[in-house]
Amino acid sequence: MNIVIKQLHKDFVGEVSGLDLSKPLSSDAVEQIEQGMDKFGVLIFHDQDITDDQQIAYTKNFGELELHIGSNVLKADERRLRIEFADVSNLDQSGEVLKRGDRRRMFNLGNRLWHSDSSFRVTPSKFSLLSCRSTPDTGGNTEFSFMPAVYDALDESTKKEIEGLITEHSLIYSRGQLGFSDFSEDEKKMFAPVRHSLVRANDFTGRKSIYLSAHIGTIIGWEMPEARDFIREMMEHATQRSFVYSHKWRVGDLVMWDNRQCMHRVRPIGDTGEKRDMRRTTVAGLGPTASQEGQKAA
Ligand code: OGA
Ligand code: MN
Repeated sequence: MNIVIKQLHKDFVGEVSGLDLSKPLSSDAVEQIEQGMDKFGVLIFHDQDITDDQQIAYTKNFGELELHIGSNVLKADERRLRIEFADVSNLDQSGEVLKRGDRRRMFNLGNRLWHSDSSFRVTPSKFSLLSCRSTPDTGGNTEFSFMPAVYDALDESTKKEIEGLITEHSLIYSRGQLGFSDFSEDEKKMFAPVRHSLVRANDFTGRKSIYLSAHIGTIIGWEMPEARDFIREMMEHATQRSFVYSHKWRVGDLVMWDNRQCMHRVRPIGDTGEKRDMRRTTVAGLGPTASQEGQKAA
């Protein structure tokens, strides 16, 4: 079968048919998907009944796996999935729905803020691949915004102003926005801030984009209130409805997105006790976006 990609939003998002992700891919197919990611930023595959091993094997087509250590507040005995997976479900290690006030659930609520995955790492991630194994009937959509289109729509003076700016990112900042601040000393060390360029260019298409994320806490050389106000303005611009695609999940969907070019967030689900079993593998990026020299702890 041929790979066909149908664009779903005026700016981005492709729906892919003609691929079975449970089987090894030809190098030609991998190349078509890589090119599709550069162009569309988000690719959607339906009816992919895959195992964890198959998801890992498919992910490795696009680079090194990012392991999920240093990215959450799970204790060693609280993992439901292996470290190759980010567990963005609402489930505990025995598969039961987390209690409303559970600390892990409180931490995961940060995924409802617009962000780019792993922007709190020195080398942030390239792609995220999220597989839907079960989903509530309503709520829990994942929304995406395409940063090259967002960048293009900025006025020229703002484009000039942001060129060369360096931002500071940490999970402490994103969780702090929701009032989550009871980090242990170890967690504070693990989540020490890192620096990123605010403007990035796609290596292949050359298109510039603005690298925004809820993990941003300040801009180097700026006073924090001014930096936060500026970032909030940029966020408002970037998440206007006309820029947003909202994905309603079906069991068997696999959605992959380019974190270098997209922001995303998950929408709330009701307190119905339904399970939302979502498993994410992540492809590591190739390197830092900015020098870390001079970086201090938060
Ligand atoms: C993620 C995330 C989205 C979701 O997997 O990176 O932010 O739909 N979650 O759960
Ligand atoms: Mn995410």
